[in-house]
Amino acid sequence: MKIEIATTLRCDVLIIGAGGAALRSGAEILETRPGTSIIALTKVTHPQKSHTSTAQGGLAAVDPKDPLDSTIYHMFDTWKGSDCTADQNVVKIICESAWEQILWLENRGMHFSRNRDGRLSKRTFGGHTRNFGESSVYRAVFEADRTGKGIMDTSWGETLKKGIRFLNQTIGVELLIESGQCHGVVALKQKEGVFVKILAKATIIATGGSGQVYRVTTNCRQNTGDGLALVLQAGLPVMDPEAVQFHPTGIVGPGILASETLRSVGGILRNKDLEPFMVGYAPKMKELAPRDLVARAIESEIREGRGIINPDHDIAHVWIDLTHLPAEVHEKQIPEVSSFFKRYVNLDTKTDLCPVRPSNHYHMGGIPTNAWGEIEDQNHRIIAGLYAAGECAAASFHGFNRLGTNSILELITMGSLVGKRVVEYLKEQPETHHEPTPESFPKRFSGYLASGGTESIGKLRSRLRTVMTDKVSVFRTEESIAEAIETIADIEERTGKIAIVNRRLPMNQELLQRWELDNLLLVAKSICHGARYRKESRGAHFRDDYNKRLDEFNHHTLIGIDSRGACHLQRREIDMSIFEAGGEHSTHFDFIERSY
Ligand code: FUM
Repeated sequence: MKIEIATTLRCDVLIIGAGGAALRSGAEILETRPGTSIIALTKVTHPQKSHTSTAQGGLAAVDPKDPLDSTIYHMFDTWKGSDCTADQNVVKIICESAWEQILWLENRGMHFSRNRDGRLSKRTFGGHTRNFGESSVYRAVFEADRTGKGIMDTSWGETLKKGIRFLNQTIGVELLIESGQCHGVVALKQKEGVFVKILAKATIIATGGSGQVYRVTTNCRQNTGDGLALVLQAGLPVMDPEAVQFHPTGIVGPGILASETLRSVGGILRNKDLEPFMVGYAPKMKELAPRDLVARAIESEIREGRGIINPDHDIAHVWIDLTHLPAEVHEKQIPEVSSFFKRYVNLDTKTDLCPVRPSNHYHMGGIPTNAWGEIEDQNHRIIAGLYAAGECAAASFHGFNRLGTNSILELITMGSLVGKRVVEYLKEQPETHHEPTPESFPKRFSGYLASGGTESIGKLRSRLRTVMTDKVSVFRTEESIAEAIETIADIEERTGKIAIVNRRLPMNQELLQRWELDNLLLVAKSICHGARYRKESRGAHFRDDYNKRLDEFNHHTLIGIDSRGACHLQRREIDMSIFEAGGEHSTHFDFIERSY
């Protein structure tokens, strides 16, 4: 079959993705530059099916009127939480504009939960502290335990009424970059089965996470690292791919998220002897230590024989105990998670201990950008007209460990900053579009459709996800990473022997899965190579064989993959501007020791 472009579309701004970051950037552009033509692609059937909709716990933002909290504490917590690898210029910008983002949402109709005085309710999450780690602080605002849905409703409505155009079930397959400038993308409209060239003056990648690299994940089915693969295929690097977050409390069985809200409202983690074990790992913060630490504590309990085996799934786990909490907390603060426990494992949070174990949750690593979401190459040069925001991007606000509720804050803030930057960029752009010739997609897709053999996409995908979960997870070693790299190489070779039965283009799910498999392989490979290079432990990247953070690795990792599949490694310095500025609190922003 001849793979060719059926038609060309033109717009001012193309957004690849339609989740929280995508919609926030679209809304910003349409508010400041009404009439801008924006096309947003979504892989799924409707923007509201984006993964942002599943976010539960809330968004961190310091209320300027809060006498107990302060933006400098939020900045410190984020820096310490990141295990001293976040970029401080980004930390400052995002924390300082956090409340402005809450007001943006509130003023556009989001139903934040309120307390009896009518003020926005707040909850604390792991690593949220006052006075530089002294004690927990209530910082995250929320809409019950379905905050993401509120954000999607609000930002989707905003973009829709201002005239965005959505192309549902459409994937971006090749970036159109020429002489250091991006001019759009080639996309496959799955329903019609046609490839379209979408020419845009500015292109924003907001494709979300890559959780499907792992077998046990809180992520939606569509999170296959598509944005990361897109830039890697364009010869650009990804940053800190080895920094993968495992949420401490996935529901055993489906692996889906049991929000940190459970620990925020007083839930206690217990082992098989019903001991509240967190005190042994984080004496001060206990259940409210950051996620990397709590996830390691749970896995350590299990490794040392203090886990419980779930008979249905044959999976070891610990308990979260919520039985001592008042009925009002179950009903008002955690209705959604309680319903998940009921629906998926038939347990009642009011009366039963609930089984939990770490589940892949978030990719701190991603497409390297500067503080305004402009994508950079391996030499720190900006690719003109190309931006990234949300989970697929690494600005880097989270460094090597993200604090709970900082992701929604980041995607909303970076979405808005990218929107502002794009509006500025558009002022300098000519009326007409430049039209580069695509290079790689015809060969790739005709290869997918023409190849023959007996390998199965499903089996290879499942083998990849299993090896990543077993070998490059909460704990890693040289040996386990090497095993994963070897397995990935074998899977890559076998992909040449996959026969796609349906060789037509419209609604071809096999073809979509074949494309996704390549994306997953690229992301997994970058994770493994980053993890093998980083012979130290930092945040969520924990090596049993190098179990300390080392100063020689005080930098970001950049990994590129060339057309022969070889990985190339470079470094990016960590921005230390808060520390370097000196002043009253600057010493808190040095490479400080991290204990909770
Ligand atoms: O636990 C949660 O509700 C997740 C929040 C987050 O990842 O920020």
